Amino acid sequence: MASTGFGWGKTILFGEHFVVYGTEAIAVGLDRGITVTLERSEQDEGPSDEHADAVKQAVQIIRQAAGVSEQVRVLLIESALPVGQGTGSSAALSVAIARAIAKEFALALPEERINAIAYEAEKFFHGTPSGIDNTLATYGGAILFQKRPVHPDENRIERFLPGKPFWLVIISSGTRAATREMVAEVRLRRDRQEEVFSQFCAASSRISSQAHQVLLSGDLDALGELMNLNHGLLVGIGVSTVRLDTIVHTARAQGALGAKLTGGGGGGCVIALFPDQDSAVAAQGHFQAELLAAYTVRIGS
Ligand code: PMV
Repeated sequence: MASTGFGWGKTILFGEHFVVYGTEAIAVGLDRGITVTLERSEQDEGPSDEHADAVKQAVQIIRQAAGVSEQVRVLLIESALPVGQGTGSSAALSVAIARAIAKEFALALPEERINAIAYEAEKFFHGTPSGIDNTLATYGGAILFQKRPVHPDENRIERFLPGKPFWLVIISSGTRAATREMVAEVRLRRDRQEEVFSQFCAASSRISSQAHQVLLSGDLDALGELMNLNHGLLVGIGVSTVRLDTIVHTARAQGALGAKLTGGGGGGCVIALFPDQDSAVAAQGHFQAELLAAYTVRIGS
């Protein structure tokens, strides 16, 4: 018998990178994700493509974390997320595998357990992840997230519903960088400039908590302004690129209320905030005409 599991994609609205050092971040689930189908097997196996080895290793970590000694073969990965573009594809994959394994072996794992198991696989993919990606991949929706240093089970996770729906255009820069490397680079910069970096952390924390209030009240102009400020911090710690900055400025010229890179940076995606669907779709068309992958998501429904 084969079993399936699903994990949500996500985008980080505020606080990436600084979240690794304990400040608040805000992320939202997308309306799409990854579905995995697997079955029991003589040995652990990924699908026969270029991701086979990585998937197999993730399966082994997840199986062990879930206390399953029987091995499994991943038959199918159906993904509506681009790989390595900051939409949380590895976390969505890990959550999908954890849920499929739980179903296959009839384990009654609560959501917190799925989240913690997926975090183990995220460490394999990303080195020292904050845990925000697996949390969103598990729960979807909108969350205020804060990493607790001792144990991921103690992370602060506040789920909330934005006061007003809004539209994001997610624009891919077409290039990608490994989150693990971007996080490691930021750590080196932080070690060299610890005092300045701590001021950036404080600013990021302030932006995230104001953004939380603004999301609850539905003040989209203020939300856009906070996104622009957040992008400035990310430029400051060296995770933007010329291409990402160009996309951010183009989005603002197209009427975005705010725009910023999202996730690890060095490539990946920009998110741009629009007050209504028509303006979002028009901007999406502009980027597509420039041969960039872009799509519109409605948040807050
Ligand atoms: O690149 P993404 O979407 O996986 O996001 C990484 C977010 C970071 O804050 C840079 C790292 C982390 O683990 O939180």
